[in-house]
Order: sequence, then structure tokens, then C-alpha cells
Amino acid sequence: MGLIVYGTQYGTSKKYGLELAQITGDKVIDSQQLVGEIEATHVILIGSLYAGRMMGLKKVLQKLTTGKHELTLITVGMTDPAAEMLEKMQQSIQKQVTDKKVQLRGCYHLQGTVDYQQLALKHKLVIKPMLLAFKKKGPEELDEQARALLQAFEGTQSIQKIDFTDLAQKIYS
Ligand SMILES: Cc1cc2nc3c(=O)[nH]c(=O)nc-3n(C[C@H](O)[C@H](O)[C@H](O)COP(=O)(O)O)c2cc1C
Repeated sequence: MGLIVYGTQYGTSKKYGLELAQITGDKVIDSQQLVGEIEATHVILIGSLYAGRMMGLKKVLQKLTTGKHELTLITVGMTDPAAEMLEKMQQSIQKQVTDKKVQLRGCYHLQGTVDYQQLALKHKLVIKPMLLAFKKKGPEELDEQARALLQAFEGTQSIQKIDFTDLAQKIYS
């Protein structure tokens, strides 16, 4: 049995963690609630991306032991899964795992969700100038990533349904 740990601000990664656990039967815990040693040898971290950082990763890595644990990473964010930027982000996240000498079993990405109105003021202050800058430019001047972010925050992007059964099979194959 594995342990699913989620790192979230607004609940998307928690929701995804619970959906995955319904299929895998793994226990689920908030990264903030990790105390003591982790008994499960396989840990699956579902963590939301904020400015390129994966929520919960630091806490999980503190709890893992070289040679005992295997880690699967599932990033959650608005970055297009096909974007080069996501690959770079994930490479830097994966490096933190290999630096800790923990075995990385796999790395996946799920499309996140966002509701600008629900954001905390600190996040609105970061996002608002970025959206204004994007809006000043014409759509043809924006790269794929910028277009995806703009659509996400305007609520006009197409939400793809996540196949958790397929994800569980990939994780456990
Ligand atoms: C301030 C801020 C920064 C973000 N940075 C990133 C990012 O670097 N990469 C990304 O893919 N998504 C980014 N996002 C989108 C979130 O990862 C996405 O909305 C996610 O679903 C939030 O998950 P949560 O509900 O579990 O907190 C950002 C969102 C906010 C509000």
C-alpha cells in the first residue's frame, strides 16, 4: 500500500488525491499533517504548482529515507502538459528528489483549476498585473503558456476530464 500526500492552497490537489485513492485504496494525508516517520514505502505526492514550486515537496522530502522510500510526483497546475516550460519545472523538482537520493518512481502532471475571485489577496496581487500585461497584447503575441494562463483565469479554457483509473494504472505499473 502506498501513501498519497497532497499539497494544496485551494483544495484542487486534495480533491485529486481523494479521487485517486478511491481507485488505489491508498491512505491520503495533507502534507501539513505529516508527523513522524512514513511507514509506507511508496509515497505519491500530488502537489499544486505555485511560481514553479511544488506544494508539499519540502515537507515530504524531510520525511523520506534513502533506500527505504520510493516517490511518485504528480504536479497540478495551469501549465499546459505539452509546454516546454512544464518539462523544465519538473526537471528542477525532480532534481530536489535525486539530490536527496530518494528513488523517483514516476512524474506526472494534471491540469489544475483556478477561480480568480476565490484567490487570497496575496495571490490576486501577483496574478492581476500578469493578466493585465497579457490582455494588453494581442492573442497572436502571446505564447502558448500565456494564452493558457489567461484562459484559465478568465474561466474560458477547456477543462479536460482526468482519467484517474488510467493514472492509477500508470503509477502502479
Ligand atoms: C499565485 C499563483 C501562482 C501559480 N503558479 C503556477 C505555476 O507556476 N505553474 C502552474 O502550472 N500553475 C500555477 N498556478 C496555478 C495553480 O497551480 C492551480 O490553480 C492549481 O490548481 C491550484 O491548486 P490548489 O487548489 O490545490 O491550490 C498558480 C496559481 C496562482 C494563484
